[in-house]
Amino acid sequence: MALRDAVRSGRLAPGTRLPGTRSLAADLGLARGTVVQVFDQLVAEGWLVGVAGSGTVVNDVATATARPRAKRSPSASGGSCIDLRPGRPDVSAFPRAAWAGAVRRVLAGSSAPLDYVDTAGLPVLRAAVADHIARTRGVQAAPESVVVTAGFTQALALLGRAVHALGVRDAVTEDPGFARHRQVLQAARLHVRPLPVGPGGADPSALPDRPALAVLTPAHQHPYGMPLAPEHRAGVVAWARRCGGFVVEDDYDGEFRYDRQPVGAMQPLDPDRVVFAGSVSKTLAPAMRIGWLVVPQALRAALREEMVAVAAAVPAVDQLTLADLLGRGDYDRHVRRVRLAYRRRREELGNRLAAIGGPVPAGVAAGLHALLPVGSAAQERDLVAAGERSGVRLHGLHTSRYWHRPAPERPGALVIGYATPAAHAWRPALDALIELLR
Ligand SMILES: Cc1ncc(COP(=O)(O)O)c(C=O)c1O
Repeated sequence: MALRDAVRSGRLAPGTRLPGTRSLAADLGLARGTVVQVFDQLVAEGWLVGVAGSGTVVNDVATATARPRAKRSPSASGGSCIDLRPGRPDVSAFPRAAWAGAVRRVLAGSSAPLDYVDTAGLPVLRAAVADHIARTRGVQAAPESVVVTAGFTQALALLGRAVHALGVRDAVTEDPGFARHRQVLQAARLHVRPLPVGPGGADPSALPDRPALAVLTPAHQHPYGMPLAPEHRAGVVAWARRCGGFVVEDDYDGEFRYDRQPVGAMQPLDPDRVVFAGSVSKTLAPAMRIGWLVVPQALRAALREEMVAVAAAVPAVDQLTLADLLGRGDYDRHVRRVRLAYRRRREELGNRLAAIGGPVPAGVAAGLHALLPVGSAAQERDLVAAGERSGVRLHGLHTSRYWHRPAPERPGALVIGYATPAAHAWRPALDALIELLR
């Protein structure tokens, strides 16, 4: 059992206080009684001990009998570190009961299509997604324009190949921006060029004078966090029309805005030029590998060909389950719940930073991460290294290759994924971060 192994190996040090049974049960999606039973068992075996006023802590005797081990940094030991990497939701909040209920309903239905399915996705999910993104993001989506993919990354890989087949040779991504997307586009044999990010987001005046695939994060620039300014939205669409380019609107966290209604999608400005893209990686969990595209007519055939060529498909039971969750309102309920939790975390982060005179989070109150300017590249590297030594996993603009061409004079910043820790781990994670920045 994982908890016993963690105590035996010393990964959980003597005296470590365990989370309460109620919050641990909620995080793990287990009945509280199950967690209580496990704790009782480990107390009986001597691995844990109940301490009045402190709850349950790791027993000293347990590690005294463990094999001596070399002193290692907590992150090198794996598992015991505090994870503040961006791009992740709190996966312990995954709506297990709702998902399991939907799977049961899907399997009980006599019509569950278990034969080969259309590569573009099941009609019921395409319709449910079209309805959902029209309602929540203002996207213009007919069900037949929706294509279901195994998340955004796969969608981008397929789009890259599709535009290449149509003769496009360039892609443009934000600078700074998510490095993985550059790799995926390069693997599709596109030349990837930087699009500088200014105060209004990506700068359309730097777009090339020829057709290209421009990948942007208009609702909440990743990682800086500002929405794309209205004049830049118009500028990007005008460029796409003039040069025959296509824009990918990566709406990776568009459902998470905390201070007002989210800015609507830019796709309705020109559904013939803008591909709207979303996924459940931030709302449910990245491991689900389900996403969607709303594809302009001019790209549909080429995209389908690429999908058929690699037999791209999302398992039908998962598609039907998500359609069920969307149709019953369970998806919306879950998003509302986690949105509130992340909003509180973001506020707490801002308040704690203000209290120590620390960096002010950049961008708007939205999403699952906050960018904290920390001065130079060297200062950023020092902080990431200090985090590594004390078991706090951090990402930065330089250390995580957000810059297309890193240079010492480019600003340094931490990109803090405040949604990543489980509920019980959030406060210790915040304390550890504040200690590092103090
Ligand atoms: C900017 C950005 N877009 C999209 C995604 C989602 O990718 P996927 O749907 O493949 O998990 C991520 C995930 O980290 C991201 O950071």
